[in-house]
Amino acid sequence: MLLIDNIGELAVYPPGPTPGRQMGDVTRLNGARLLIHGQTIVGFGPAQEVAVPDGCAVLDAGGGCVVPGLVDCHTHAVFAGSRETEFVQRIEGRTYLEIAESGGGIRSTMRAVRQASEDELVQGALPRLRRMLRSGTTTAEVKSGYGLTVDDELKMLRAIKRLNALQPIELVATYLAAHTVPPEFEGRADAYLDMMLADEVFERILQEGLAEFCDVFCERGAFGVEQSRRVLEAALRHGLRPRVHADQITQMGASQLAAAVGAVSADHLETIDDAGIAALKAAGTIAVLLPACSFFLGVPQAPARRLIEANLPVAVATDANPGSSMVESLALTLSIACTQMRLTPAEALVAATANAAAALDRHARLGAIAPNMQADLLVLDVPSLDQWLYHIGRPCVRTVIKRGRVAEPDR
Ligand code: NIG
Ligand code: FE
Repeated sequence: MLLIDNIGELAVYPPGPTPGRQMGDVTRLNGARLLIHGQTIVGFGPAQEVAVPDGCAVLDAGGGCVVPGLVDCHTHAVFAGSRETEFVQRIEGRTYLEIAESGGGIRSTMRAVRQASEDELVQGALPRLRRMLRSGTTTAEVKSGYGLTVDDELKMLRAIKRLNALQPIELVATYLAAHTVPPEFEGRADAYLDMMLADEVFERILQEGLAEFCDVFCERGAFGVEQSRRVLEAALRHGLRPRVHADQITQMGASQLAAAVGAVSADHLETIDDAGIAALKAAGTIAVLLPACSFFLGVPQAPARRLIEANLPVAVATDANPGSSMVESLALTLSIACTQMRLTPAEALVAATANAAAALDRHARLGAIAPNMQADLLVLDVPSLDQWLYHIGRPCVRTVIKRGRVAEPDR
């Protein structure tokens, strides 16, 4: 048993998915304590109501705020190489699509990933995941999508599987072969998809337990709506659940596609329109917003308040990747969501916990502080949620608890 005592503010709300207008309904208990048995939260409440069992270990929160561990439900955190040249090119005026069309972008990281061994991908990602853990991420989705051959995509997925066992963050893998068309298939996107959607590829993924979800970048220069539909329907036939990079730069009806195939999430949504919003709402698809990506690219943010007003469940994630969001900290991303999308700190926290867990189909176990939920918790060194997100970029996480055990600082 482990007791977290002397908690400043304890942020409590029901497990997700929580629809937009209820995302701000966070109860803030002050002076509470919380009891963990094994990997599970067994109770919490005012100090006088929670007895300390004999022999129970005690962690003094020192008056710090306690929140659920953050769930980063959209990342490309396994990659090789670096793209600071494009960062500078964009500052000088080139756009993300222009850089991609001239052979940079995803294809640049693809070249580095093809050259890297599985071991090198694992070793390269470990320090990145450690920094994510320190900033409060306890669960993260990670996509393939930089290999773009069968072997290189499988190599990425195997690296993700190994990383899951090597460090404390729980990783959820997504097959993103349809990230872009590789140069050897230029002008032959359908032939590329024939190769990547072959039954044998999915069978391998399932046999080795390499992915749970399948994603597609539905965008000009990547895959059109009908090609994307093909990807996601093939995934469904093989038991992988769909998610979609939708409405990022070009409005082409990708959110409607996400809804039509029953995608668990539609992600990005910078250019979503009313028809897209209505479709996601009717389908119960989670809207995953990536404010660090727009911040990094210097482009307008997704219309978060419109999505919240439409009562959609909204999640927020980093999109951590070398090209469009070299941002590992979900806490920093939440501060950006507050100032640039006008999410309240309470809405931002629900977006990156209960709703993000729902986007990974883990909301029954992760993303909220409630009895029987997994004890994934952050003890902050500031007394309140508002202070955490207000002090932008300051590392405020004192202790990370994953599955009931202290994961950071490492012991
Ligand atoms: O989510 N939009 C497509 N995929 C990534 C970018 C990947 C890259 O540029 O390497 C994204 O922004
Ligand atoms: Fe992405």
